[in-house]
Formats: sequence, structure tokens, C-alpha cells
Amino acid sequence: MALAKTDASGGSGLLPEVLAFSSSLALDRQLLREDLVGSLAHVTMLGRTGVIPVADARAIRDGLIDLWRRADAGTLELPDEEDVHMAVEVELNRTIGAPAALLHSARSRNDQVATDLRLHVREVAAAALSELTDFIGELVARARQETGLILPSYTHRQRAQPVSLAYWLSSYAAAFLRDAQALAFVLDQCRLLPLGVGAISGTSLPIDREISRQLLDFEGVTLNGMDTVGDRDFALDLLYATARFFVHASRLSTDLIDFTTQEFGFASLSGDISMGSSMMPQKKNPDLFELVRGKSGRAVGNLMGLLTTVKGLPGGYNRDLQEDRASLLETGPLLRGALSVLRLALPRVTFNPERCRAGLEEGFTQATDLAEALVKKGMPFRKAYMAAGALVRRCQEQGLSLREATLALAQSVDPAYDAQVLSVLEPSGAVARKASAGSTGPAAVEATLRALEAQRAPLAERAARVPKLTAL
Ligand code: ARG
Repeated sequence: MALAKTDASGGSGLLPEVLAFSSSLALDRQLLREDLVGSLAHVTMLGRTGVIPVADARAIRDGLIDLWRRADAGTLELPDEEDVHMAVEVELNRTIGAPAALLHSARSRNDQVATDLRLHVREVAAAALSELTDFIGELVARARQETGLILPSYTHRQRAQPVSLAYWLSSYAAAFLRDAQALAFVLDQCRLLPLGVGAISGTSLPIDREISRQLLDFEGVTLNGMDTVGDRDFALDLLYATARFFVHASRLSTDLIDFTTQEFGFASLSGDISMGSSMMPQKKNPDLFELVRGKSGRAVGNLMGLLTTVKGLPGGYNRDLQEDRASLLETGPLLRGALSVLRLALPRVTFNPERCRAGLEEGFTQATDLAEALVKKGMPFRKAYMAAGALVRRCQEQGLSLREATLALAQSVDPAYDAQVLSVLEPSGAVARKASAGSTGPAAVEATLRALEAQRAPLAERAARVPKLTAL
């Protein structure tokens, strides 16, 4: 059967090679549940508005539910068709006969696929938002346990200033919070129902989009059918939120990959998340984080791919849009996979306070605190900066750490040095003294953690409120 061909389009025959090339069924059978839910709403609306007889609407409804049950049981074999929409209609015709011919009244695959995709994106975004907000909560909880551990922060991958591990953890929590906000924006972009705009210009049949909207739990209906059938912005938004999450996850991964090297030695991974080498018996590799980082390439590629597909298309529907499927359908599993392994891994990363402290001392990371202590005594910052730099240089020449600098040595560099200024060289003091908002100072970190919690909670609730397909 070839549903999408009439005599006008050249009769029923489609070359098998052409069907194989153009079919999206291999991928979009993953949208079967979304497609069935959309069809159930559509047929209910058709029955209620009198576009089709109520008895036929019921027969179609029962047939669709039967397909759902067989899909759940794993016994549904979809016929070879151009896409899942056709396959469902053909299978429905095979099982319920004549009434199946009424299902597609006042509908096109163009508004149908747009509806399926929004249902899909809505569910993927809600599931990811829920898991991401949990992860943020776990980062916050871990940060609360790690306020006492001090390690170097880095700029240009050179040791910069002492920070608490809580500060490092909350830096990623803050980035992931923005990703959670981006996912909430995706949900906003899925608020309007495409179904009912038909192929491009609507329908003269007396449908009521409001009924379908209520059944599918959307907040409104789309504004313009020509825009609706060519719109994949909601999908682009999901791919962008995903790509950005992965960019953050890849940076977290690189930090952990570096921190667990013998060179840094700041952290170690438990045996159940580290991989061995097939040849080198001593290896304990951070493959998990490398894979998260590697998969970020796919996420970024998916966004680029879909942007490129949509760019320059003429208005309305074009079959090019079917190429959204691979990247979009990959996104849910990609997000789920990365989020779940990161959540598993976090409690299995242990930090080594001594090695972190050694990194601070070797790195002269208190130099800025030294300059600021001179500033507090009234020295202009640029002069204090030079004086601190000179002392670092002197210590380096003599093979000393900053903490080993004597008062005499400091005063030989600049007479403004005194015992009080040198007292800031204890690294934990450098963290404790930070007072500005958003800093590594304990009070600022606590305020940040509270803000993260406060902003995370409503996003988690938002995710929980999104209707599930099975509840529609
Ligand atoms: N398989 C198509 C897609 O996914 C469905 C829409 C086809 N529409 C059409 N006019 N040929 O985009």
C-alpha cells in the first residue's frame, strides 16, 4: 500500500529504492507512542465536532489503543511505509477496516509530525530537567561537606588562587543551573499545539483545535499554520540546551581527568568507575569522563546539523525537515546517559587534602592576598602588586615557598612588609578572608549554595508538572 500517492502523483508505485531512501520509519518508529497519543486526541476531536461519526471515532480509538497495547507487548509489526504516520494508518486499516480511512480527515503529516515532535521534546526536556535539578542538588550537598578542603584554582591552567572545594563544586552547579533554565525555556517553546493547521493553510472542515489542545494538555494552539509546519525551533532549543549542558559536562570532566592524574594527584576515582588497560596492568583510567567529553562532540554536532538543515529552507514544510530525526531522537538517551553517569561518579571521586595543599604552596597562590594585604595598609594596588611579585621572585630564586619567606627577606624586597602582612600567607586564611559576593569566602559560598537551592527547586517542580504521555 502506498497511502501518500494518488493518480495525480503518478499512481501507486514507488520504486523500492526510492521508498528505502526516503523512509524515516527506521527512526521515527521511536515516535510511535507520541503518534498514537496525537491520533487519539485528533480522532476524539473529529468525533466531538461531528467531522466524522461518533461510532467510527470509537472504532478508530479502540484500534489505536490496540496498537498501543501490542507495541507495549512487543508484538506489533509495523508495515513498511514512508514513516510511522503512514505505517499506523495502514496497520489500523488492516485491523479495523473502513473507519481507518476517516482518521486523517483535516490532518496532514506536516502538522502530525510537528505534534509528535513537540510531545517528544516536551517529555525529553522534562525528564532531563528533573534529573539535572537532582544533580545540582547533589553538587550543592557535596559542596556543603567540602567547605574545609582547599585547592588551587586555575586560570590558563596555571595555579591562580586558593579556593575551597565547595567553591569549585558550586561553580559547576551554577553552570548546570543555567542549563536547567535553558531546559525550562525548551518547555516554554513546547507550549503551543501544532495539530489542526493541516498541510499549511488550515482546513475548511469544522474542527476545533481547542478540544485537541485540552486533550494533549498544551497551553494554546500555534498562531500560523505556514510557520507551524516549517518550525523546528523547539527542537533546536533542546539541541542547544543539550549542547551547552555537554560543554559544561566536558569541562567538569577535563577538570576531573586532570585532577586524577599523577601529576595533579588532587583526587582519585573508586575502582568501580575507573577502567583498566588491556596491556598496562597498573592503569586506572578515567574513561567515564573522557566519554562524557567525547559525547559532547555529538551533542554539538547535532545542533550544528539541525541548524544547517533548517537554514535557507523556503517557508512552509519541506521534506528536508525529516532529517531532524536522527539528532533529535539521539538527544534523550545522550542526556540521560551523561547525567546518570555523572551522578553515579560524583560520590566516587575522593579528594586528597594534602596533595591539594601542596599544589597551593608550590604555586605561590597566595601572592594576590599578599598584594591585597599591602593595599589594606594603604599602598596603591599597582605598587603592592609589584612588591608581591618581587617577593615571589626572591623566594623562587632561593627555592622557598611564600610561606617560608622570613620578615627580613620580605623587608629586603620592600620595607612596607610587616608580620601582619605576611600572616596572610596561610592558604586557608586566603579563602577565609574573601568577603565579596560570589567569592570563595565561606559566607559567600553559603549564600551561593542557598541561591542555587532556591533556584533549583522551582525548576524541579516545573519538570514534575509536565504531563506524561501515558497520562494524556
Ligand atoms: N515523514 C515526514 C517527516 O517526518 C512526515 C511529513 C511528510 N510530509 C509530506 N508532505 N511528505 O517529515
